[in-house]
Amino acid sequence: MPPRLVQVRCPAKLNLFLEVLGRRPDGYHELSTVMAPVALFDTLTVREAKTFRLDVHGPPLPGTNTVEKAYRAVARRRRIPGVRATLAKGIPAGSGMGGGSSDAAAMIEALDALFDLGLDRHEIAAEIGSDVNFFLERGPALCTGRGEKVAPIPSGPELHAVIFWPGFSLSTAAVYGRVRDFLTPAPRIVIDFLNSFGREGPEGLGRVLFNRLELAAFALHPELSALRGRLAEMLPAGARMTGSGSALYGLCASGAEARRLARRVRGEFAGFVAPARVMTREVSWRSRKSGSS
Ligand code: C5P
Repeated sequence: MPPRLVQVRCPAKLNLFLEVLGRRPDGYHELSTVMAPVALFDTLTVREAKTFRLDVHGPPLPGTNTVEKAYRAVARRRRIPGVRATLAKGIPAGSGMGGGSSDAAAMIEALDALFDLGLDRHEIAAEIGSDVNFFLERGPALCTGRGEKVAPIPSGPELHAVIFWPGFSLSTAAVYGRVRDFLTPAPRIVIDFLNSFGREGPEGLGRVLFNRLELAAFALHPELSALRGRLAEMLPAGARMTGSGSALYGLCASGAEARRLARRVRGEFAGFVAPARVMTREVSWRSRKSGSS
C-alpha cells in the first residue's frame, strides 16, 4: 500500500565551481557548474487531502511557491487528489542555496511516493527550474546546459562549510542579466576543478573554488564584495558566493572547526550564519514514509 504521509528533508546546495559559457537564444545562460548538497534543510510534509493547501513555516516567500508549482505540474500530467503540504523553512530564500528548487524536487518525490505515479521526475523538474534536477540526485554533480543536465561526480574529501547570508536577497534573473559584462572568450574549464576535488583538502580546494556570477552580483551590490573580503580573512580556505547569491561560504575540514568558526563569524557579522557538512559523496537524506496520517 502506498504511504499516507511522506516527510522529506530538502537540503541546500553550494556551487563550488560555476562558469558561464554564454547566453543562449532562449535567454538562459549555458553553464558549467559543480554543486554539492549541504546539510542545511527545509522539511516538507505531505499528506492526502480534499484540496491543495500549503502552509509555510518561516518568513513569507515572494511569488508562487515552488512546492505549489510542482504540485500543479504533476496535476497537469496525472489525476491526483488534493494534498495538505507543510513546509518548514531552514534555508534562507533568495540566497543562491537552492531552497526553492530543493523543495520542488521534494514535492515531486513526495507525490510520486504517495500516489505511486511512476512519474518522469526529471522532465517535470526541468519545467520548474534549472536547479531542480540536481536535487533529484543524492550527491555532488557536474551540471551543464542551463543547469538541468546533471552528471554525478566521484566522491570528494570530507568537507564542512561556514555559510553566511547577509539578510538580503538577489534576483537570479538580475544577476544573470548583468553577467554579460563579465564573460570571457577563454572561460575556465571545470576539469581542473574536478581534478582538485578528487585530491585536495579544503585549503587546496579553496584555491580553485570559482563563481563567475560573483562579479555580476558584486556589480549590483558592492557591499557584498566587501563582506566576502572580510569573511575570507576569517576562514582558512577563503570565501566564495554560491549560485546567484547572496549567500557566501568558506570551507573547512571538520564539523568542530565549522562550528567554532561559525561562532566567530556570528560575533562579527549581522545575518544568518550556519555551519554545515558538505555532502561530497552520495548519501540518502530523503523520505520518511508513514502508513498512518
Ligand atoms: O531556471 P530558473 O527559474 O531558476 O531561472 C531563473 C532565471 O535565472 C531565469 O529566468 C533566467 O533569467 C536566469 N537564468 C539564466 N541561465 C541559467 C539559469 C537561470 O539566465 N542557466
